[in-house]
Amino acid sequence: MQIKKLFLQNFRNYENEKFDFSEGLNVLFGKNAQGKTNCAEAVFYLCTGASLRIRHDKQLIRIGAESARIIAEAENRYGNVTIQADIYENKREIRVNGSKIAKNADLMGHINSVFFSPGELRLIQDGPEERRRFMNLSISQTSSAYYTALLRYNKILDQRNVLLKNHDVGMILDTLPVWDEQLCKYAAVIVKKRREFLEKLAPFAKEFHAFLTDGNEELVIAPDRKYDGDEAEIAKTLQRRLENQYEKDLRLGFTTVGPHRDDLDVAIGGVDAKAYASQGQTRTAALALKLSEVQIFKELSGEYPILVLDDVMSELDLPRRKKLVKCIAGMQTILTCTHAERVLYGAESKKIRIENGKIK
Ligand SMILES: Nc1ncnc2c1ncn2[C@@H]1O[C@H](COP(=O)(O)OP(=O)(O)OP(=O)(O)O)[C@@H](O)[C@H]1O
Ligand SMILES: [Mg+2]
Repeated sequence: MQIKKLFLQNFRNYENEKFDFSEGLNVLFGKNAQGKTNCAEAVFYLCTGASLRIRHDKQLIRIGAESARIIAEAENRYGNVTIQADIYENKREIRVNGSKIAKNADLMGHINSVFFSPGELRLIQDGPEERRRFMNLSISQTSSAYYTALLRYNKILDQRNVLLKNHDVGMILDTLPVWDEQLCKYAAVIVKKRREFLEKLAPFAKEFHAFLTDGNEELVIAPDRKYDGDEAEIAKTLQRRLENQYEKDLRLGFTTVGPHRDDLDVAIGGVDAKAYASQGQTRTAALALKLSEVQIFKELSGEYPILVLDDVMSELDLPRRKKLVKCIAGMQTILTCTHAERVLYGAESKKIRIENGKIK
């Protein structure tokens, strides 16, 4: 999979710019606040329909302009694909090969990307929400069944939470089982897919981590161990857990168990990474997870996703930088940094200098 051209019109600090990417390593370099991350963000947006940093698309529109347009010409294993996003203040339109798509699920999978930035440290350090986000985004790109189940689950969850805030307890207790049956059905799809994903992820992560640390520390990833068996069994388990929490959920006014509260365990050298890892350990573990994600995409779809590495090099020590360059050989990479010459170590690359929203 590769992106060949990217057009940015009134997107962030770009007025009108066209990028030609090579199939290997592309280095976007320039001073701070010039538009490097903005370009990376545009790529990510066309892959996932989601922005990296914000909830409101409006901020993507260049200040003073009415709308933004981004277009990517890419190639995946089925052939050429053009994705266009038009972003307006209160809506957006996304087209795949000229046809407007009705829902975001139809965007997923045309161009897959794996994005890594220093903010990704949150994946290890922060609460479970970041790790769920990682799984949701990653699995959704290769499984529309997962993405659809997730949307439906979240919708029912919202409705269930509204119900829990009602004052008519009798009515709530009558209605809950109806919601819960639906909730468990979608939850089972989510839990099972996450488990499959983590089963694939764990050995890759261990291997990359060993490579990056010269085998000094072991990285162990494990899924939430609350559920066993197939989808029917997972649904049953969750059903029971929900019933056990009726009283608590009623008291708190929201749903306290389910995939929206699950986590995955990350341990480095036998101890919980969230609690004990140093900055450098955290960075390396996060990088190992992301590189593993790349391998999973390759395994599931037969081709590498586009790897977007935003400002990652400056955060790594020299041996790890060199190793990272080795790891990404053979896949299209868009890498941003402030000094192109410092990061490459002889690797062949296309260098693109960005200055004030323009290619120089
Ligand atoms: N909607 C917008 N309209 C106009 N300018 C914007 C918009 N959104 C962001 N910018 C500008 O884009 C610039 C930041 O671009 P970006 O984050 O891509 O920088 P960068 O080159 O990655 O810098 P760094 O090296 O610091 O990470 C800022 O100057 C910011 O004000
Ligand atoms: Mg940046």
